[in-house]
Amino acid sequence: MLKISEIRMDYLKQPMGVITCPQFSWILDSDKRSVHQTSYQLQMADDSDFTNILYDSGIITSDESAHVFIEDINLKSAHKYFVRVRAANNYDETSPWSQSANFVSALLSNNEWQACFISAETKEDAKNSKGTYVRKAFQVKGKVKEAYAFTTALGLYKLYLNGKKIGIDELTPGWTSYNKRLLYQTYDITDSLQEGENAIGAEVGAGWYKGVMGFELQRNHYGERTAFLGQFHIHYEDGTTEIIVTDTTWKGSDSPIRFSEIYDGEIYDAALEQTGWHTPGFCDQTWKAVEIAAYDKNNLVPQSGGTVKEIEEVTAKRIFVTPKGDTVIDFGQNMTGWIHFKVKGQKGDKVEINCFEILDADGNVYLDNLRAAKETLVYLCKGQGEETYHPSFTFQGFQYAKISTYPGEPLLENFTAYAVHSDMEQTGAFECSNKDLNQLQHNILWGLKGNFLDVPTDCPQRDERLGWTGDAQIFCRTASFLMNTYTFFNKWLKDVAADQTPEGGVPHVVPDILSGRCENNWLLNKGTHSAAAWADAAVINPWTLYLTFGDKKIIEEQYDSMKAWIDFMRNHSVDGIWNYKLQFGDWVALDAEEGSYFGATPNDLTCTAYYAYSTGLFAKMAKYIGNMADYKTYWSLYEEVVEGFRRHFFDKDGNMTASTQTAHVVALYFNLVPQMYRQKTADTLVKLIEKENGHLVTGFVGTPYICHALSQNGHTKEAYDLLLKDDFPSWLYQVKMGATTIWEHWDGIKPDGTMWSPDMNSFNHYAYGAIGEWLYRVIAGFEIDEENPGYKHAILYPRIGGDLSYVKASYQTIYGKLALDWTLEADTVTLKACVPHNTTATLYLDEAQEVLESDGLHFADHISGKEALVGSGVYTIKFRR
Ligand code: BGC
Repeated sequence: MLKISEIRMDYLKQPMGVITCPQFSWILDSDKRSVHQTSYQLQMADDSDFTNILYDSGIITSDESAHVFIEDINLKSAHKYFVRVRAANNYDETSPWSQSANFVSALLSNNEWQACFISAETKEDAKNSKGTYVRKAFQVKGKVKEAYAFTTALGLYKLYLNGKKIGIDELTPGWTSYNKRLLYQTYDITDSLQEGENAIGAEVGAGWYKGVMGFELQRNHYGERTAFLGQFHIHYEDGTTEIIVTDTTWKGSDSPIRFSEIYDGEIYDAALEQTGWHTPGFCDQTWKAVEIAAYDKNNLVPQSGGTVKEIEEVTAKRIFVTPKGDTVIDFGQNMTGWIHFKVKGQKGDKVEINCFEILDADGNVYLDNLRAAKETLVYLCKGQGEETYHPSFTFQGFQYAKISTYPGEPLLENFTAYAVHSDMEQTGAFECSNKDLNQLQHNILWGLKGNFLDVPTDCPQRDERLGWTGDAQIFCRTASFLMNTYTFFNKWLKDVAADQTPEGGVPHVVPDILSGRCENNWLLNKGTHSAAAWADAAVINPWTLYLTFGDKKIIEEQYDSMKAWIDFMRNHSVDGIWNYKLQFGDWVALDAEEGSYFGATPNDLTCTAYYAYSTGLFAKMAKYIGNMADYKTYWSLYEEVVEGFRRHFFDKDGNMTASTQTAHVVALYFNLVPQMYRQKTADTLVKLIEKENGHLVTGFVGTPYICHALSQNGHTKEAYDLLLKDDFPSWLYQVKMGATTIWEHWDGIKPDGTMWSPDMNSFNHYAYGAIGEWLYRVIAGFEIDEENPGYKHAILYPRIGGDLSYVKASYQTIYGKLALDWTLEADTVTLKACVPHNTTATLYLDEAQEVLESDGLHFADHISGKEALVGSGVYTIKFRR
């Protein structure tokens, strides 16, 4: 029996805010093996019954069940569209029609905006970060067929209709390079409207737009006044449409939020609440007229998914008093989000909570690593029974909360934390017989949850929380295994492109709030863009999305941005060696000089290595989208850069001129080593690790690839040994020290209990979590075939080792679930593989001497073991090593 499940549009189940026909994908279900699609039919309609069919593909002979584009049908603005698919397979079976999926269109052209940005703030509020309300009552004059809200803000906003919050998004409209791109959200409000009187209300806060952000703690990065924009399309049953817009007929007022900022937290005075402010009957006579705020509506871009939400509840684990006498709640997990609490008090009674990450060696509250960020919530009671609160326009990075003031006794059950991040489907899972590795996997995942809050941030707690390009580049592949990152990175890469310098330079942080504002910073006054490994996010992240999802659209969309970055490096290189202004090099490596952040690997080397790597990737991407002229040009540039690298960084005997671990790692992983010296270079890397007593001393550049550089060159055992080290410095050292996320520094907490200097010591910094990639690609063995990406043809090559007795891993590909479990008993390995329908895999059995059970597969000899080509289905194989 063949069935279709799960239609996706632009990787989402129900995109809201579509302006061009999305790309479609679907999953085939069957009880047979080796199933592939032979044809499909896709229909799109105006209604869920498919009586009014707008598009019918007819039967298309094709094995493609992802990246399906249809000829552009003329979409209408503010409308819901229904889609269904059926398919046939190689067993002559035809599926029934799938269940229908739907998407909602946004405003197809920005010319359709009739609404104005309205502000309840005045010029005098430039230095405030308070909350404001705007509202309007209006009539619904008949039966509503469908109705949609298109809303955004300069600042952050929450939308209400008839007293209820619309949608479950938080911190909308998120953070983009607001001067160039501002996202607006689309909500279905059909069921929230009522015939007769209705009221819309929005609460607006400062957020990233005008609150304090960045190293110099400057405010008003994008403007001095918050504002709200809303356009509401109501389609009546009788075929007429009414559009309600924000304009000067709206009224404004201050909200109970007296202060709210990303770093410092929120002050909320419940006595200032105005009951029913967002309901129809409310009397807004004392409210003032709103003012129109200027903003170029050509910059508006619909957001179709991946908004920030409260994703997960984390219960408070214990409440205790520190040696210094502070009352502290421990949530047991370092995370990003906020606390909900309940309180009973008199009017004006205060709750004050300071969020923080870690206790010091004596078990006391440690706030120093937050630097200037206050992370403080203040709530003033209105004095009416049990009151509940959680913040609106801020977020905290924390595991602990110090209860500084609370009327009555703070009981554990009155406090609950919520992890808040961009909504992404969790796609990857990894578990094995080593509990420390499982904790590491947990920490990597929570590093992602803590730092994928609309933009990929370095850390969520101190006065930074910026979209550091390097961190996002390093962690991209790991993240893209764990969760479906397509929408998230797709959005951010548009800001990368928007913020590039005219010459193609890529800022250190995106959205770029540092350029032109960091003259006083000891480091960034040397440059705010174009550092190797950081700027290369412009190429490596699209490449990673291409690999993970097989998506060529991302290559097309980012093409000019990527090319401009490669050209920037070419224009600033001398004799094939590239280097430029401020470089972070092998940032925070342990081979740095005492007190320095810069690792010992020379900048010329890391810069040129990345120049070669990115140029090679770009050339390949040009080829994959059929731009053969660029492919030729950039492939020969790539070959030149590789030659230059070899000339400069290898001596005549094939030794690298820099004897650091990282130099050897990048040379090997980026394929820059002359073939004849490859083994020698890998063996030298092993020696460099031995020299450190079996430890790594790598920073941001070397760490992500060190295990790959070993396992790709005959040193899988050494890679396992390195991974499993648990004394300082190592991944498992943090685990042994009780980490629940990934630390910024190997020595965030030193073996003697003291800490790395508080000026930069985050305990939730995902960069070193890039080791996840090695767990999934090598231990579990999920490898991608570049020529057949998106796991259309997967390579399953688990490497048995590390004294592990079992591994269980899975990844939800765009075609369905790919899974692989292995168990080792004596010298017998039992392997269970699940290959999604409409895909194939090549299975490599690591060091197999003899296949004991083949489950119908035909195994041939492979360099070290056996291999078989596998069709879809579930297989159990046993072999002897
Ligand atoms: C950030 C890093 C970032 C680095 C670059 C730090 O402040 O937290 O993760 O990549 O600066 O210098």
